Amino acid sequence: MKRSFEKGFFAPLPVLIIGTYDAEGTPNAMNAAWGGQIGMTQVSVSLSPSHKTTENIRLNREFTIAYATAEQIAACDYVGVASGNKVGNKLEKCGFTVTKSDKVNAPVIDQLPVALECRVIDIQEEFGETRVVAEVVGLKADESVMTDGKVDYAKAGFVIYDTVTKTYRTVGGSIAGARSVGRKFE
Ligand SMILES: Cc1cc2nc3c(=O)[nH]c(=O)nc-3n(C[C@H](O)[C@H](O)[C@H](O)COP(=O)(O)O)c2cc1C
Repeated sequence: MKRSFEKGFFAPLPVLIIGTYDAEGTPNAMNAAWGGQIGMTQVSVSLSPSHKTTENIRLNREFTIAYATAEQIAACDYVGVASGNKVGNKLEKCGFTVTKSDKVNAPVIDQLPVALECRVIDIQEEFGETRVVAEVVGLKADESVMTDGKVDYAKAGFVIYDTVTKTYRTVGGSIAGARSVGRKFE
């Protein structure tokens, strides 16, 4: 029997590490779970208007989204609790170094193996949130997490955010072929 609750939750949520530069070219990063793919080539993230990241995105209109990994989970969590508004050397403190993207004016975090390069299409101020819609214009991926030239989830160590227990979880193994396993009911 199902029980009824007033409040819902979405699962699974991603752990996205958004990389930006400020006006002086100082790199910053923050952890974001409220984001995802919209359509074939676009992403949307929902940000607090007061974050340093939000200011940087308004300024440059470009950013990166790296996927958090199990190996770097402490650093990924740290960028979600410390703000670049208060901690000037936030990335240095958690051991992250960066390389500037050749496609967008934003940093690619060296220690995270996969990152999207994003260009802002629209910024909406709605319900107290800054909603950023962006086109994905490129992807950077370390060869170490690839198999046959493609990013391999088994090697990448991606994680998800569990809002019920407020913990990070690893992504499990592949269980069935998409648009394939269900065809037995056709
Ligand atoms: C697991 C996790 C998920 C988060 N998701 C979001 C989010 O989706 N949107 C948001 O505005 N803040 C989110 N935060 C909070 C920001 O990452 C945090 O306030 C950060 O310090 C902002 O950094 P900045 O001011 O340097 O940009 C999240 C934090 C954690 C730990």
